[in-house]
Parts: sequence; structure tokens; C-alpha cells
Amino acid sequence: MNIALMYFSQTGNTLKTAEAMAAALREKRHGVRVLDMCTSAPADIKNCDVLGVGTPCFESHAPEPVKAWLRTIPPLYGKPCFVFATAGGVPGRVLYELTRAVQAKGGTVVGGFLGRGQVHHPAPCLTGRLPGRPHADDLAKARAFALALDKHLAGGATGVMPESRKDAHQAPLGFYPLVGLIARPWLLRIILPKPKLDRDVCNQCGLCEKECPSGSMRLTPYPVLDGQCIRCYHCQNICPQKALTESWWYGNLMILTLYNTVFSRLFGDLEPGEKIY
Ligand SMILES: Cc1cc2nc3c(=O)[nH]c(=O)nc-3n(C[C@H](O)[C@H](O)[C@H](O)COP(=O)(O)O)c2cc1C
Repeated sequence: MNIALMYFSQTGNTLKTAEAMAAALREKRHGVRVLDMCTSAPADIKNCDVLGVGTPCFESHAPEPVKAWLRTIPPLYGKPCFVFATAGGVPGRVLYELTRAVQAKGGTVVGGFLGRGQVHHPAPCLTGRLPGRPHADDLAKARAFALALDKHLAGGATGVMPESRKDAHQAPLGFYPLVGLIARPWLLRIILPKPKLDRDVCNQCGLCEKECPSGSMRLTPYPVLDGQCIRCYHCQNICPQKALTESWWYGNLMILTLYNTVFSRLFGDLEPGEKIY
């Protein structure tokens, strides 16, 4: 089969997961293309037999740019599809939203996979959450999911795979999905600080404009953020000059309160023995 794996990945975790799946599917003699949503045309998926869509979890959701991209793809006419995501232990609604977006295009979602990923968001002093993830075991799980998918499709099954995450097909309930319902982009723009530019340090290299997932950064001639910024702080994280900063004392407090090991275990997806820090 001709399989397209479309992914969005800011720090490489989702890409690694996609590549682990692709390697397993290639061993089963499928033609597999791993395609970056940011640089692929929607038409790139037209001729595939199976479509996989993968993304990180952002604030309990599928990232806004991913949902926007999915609205632009051609109709899927019942094509078998699967969704996958990486997250830092509290996936919220990410898989469910991906499924809904693919179904809205007419795709038949047969499964959903959730992997782990090291979290670089957002405050520099709180990096180091789930360090080294996805590690070998995480990638082995992605691989096992891909092999189960191969078996499922080879058997002609059109329903949902038994190996699928339930929250890919059922709207998840609980604390973090609720946080996700509240954490809408407009509210995040109010409560999370806007990156501030130090013009003396910025060398106008344009990397922030090129890499901004929501196309919110413009060089005029210095970088300026528009009103659609999703507060992912990717611009700050990748700036070679470290010209973008903001005050994070309040954000750190919020993150430590909401995204600590105890809460993530009680209300999120953390397994016994697994730690956020
Ligand atoms: C803006 C932003 C918001 C995030 N929100 C969540 C979240 O709500 N829950 C969670 O488990 N992880 C969250 N994360 C962590 C990412 O989902 C995780 O690091 C993911 O593996 C990143 O994938 P990538 O390397 O492919 O970009 C967030 C990361 C970013 C950048």
C-alpha cells in the first residue's frame, strides 16, 4: 500500500515517532512517505491508500495550525486513516480533535496512537520535562502500533483497531480536557506573556518568521507578532541571538501547579513510576 504520514513537529518528537512507524511499515513492504505538513502541499496526500496524521499536543489540543491545514486537504472519500500524537503526559483532546478533523474530510479513522515527548515549552527554567523522550521503548510502542495497523488493514478490517487509544474516538472527559476547553487561543493570548524583542540583539535573520507555525511573525524590518500568535514560544526557543524574552514567573507557577507529576498521574496519562521531571 501507498501510505502517507503527514506530521507537524516543532522539536522533533512527533517526527521520530512517525519515522519509527514508517520503518515498521516499510518492513512490511509498503511504500511510505513521511511528509512535513509545513512544506507539503495538501495534494501530496491525494494518491495515498492510507493516511496517517501526527502532531504534538498543544495546551490539551491539536495545534491550531494543524487543524487549519487539515481543513485545506482534499476530500478523503472513506480512505483508511490513523492519527497519532506526542505529548508530555497530559494529552487532553489532541487525538480526538485529530480524528474529528480527519472525519470532517471524509476519512475513516481506524486507530489512534499516543507517544511521549520531551517538553521544551515554554519557560526555559522549566525545561527538562520527560527528558530524552521519546526513548527506545516509546519508539518500540510506535512501531508495534504500526505493525498492528498493517495487520488490521491486511485483514480487510474497516472498523477501529483494538490497539487504538480510546480517546481517539471518544471525547475525553476529566480535568485536562476541561483545562483544554478553557485554554482557547484568545485566552492564552491574554494570560500568557507575549515574547518581547530586544532590537539591539536581533540581527533580523528571519528564522522566527520562517518557523512560526501560525504565520504570526513578520519582519517589518524587525520581527513583530500579530494577534494570531498561539503562544508556543517556538520563536524564542530557536532564536540564535536569544533576542526574544518575556517574564515567566507567573507562567512557571501556573505550569508547576497544573502540570506536575502528581496531577499528571491522577488526571493525565502518566504511568506508575513515570515522572515529569
Ligand atoms: C505550546 C505547547 C503546548 C504544549 N501543551 C501540552 C499539553 O497541554 N499537554 C502535554 O502533555 N504536552 C504539551 N506540550 C508538550 C508537547 O506536546 C510535547 O513536547 C511534544 O512531544 C512535542 O512534539 P514535537 O517535538 O514533535 O514538536 C506542549 C508543547 C508546546 C510547545
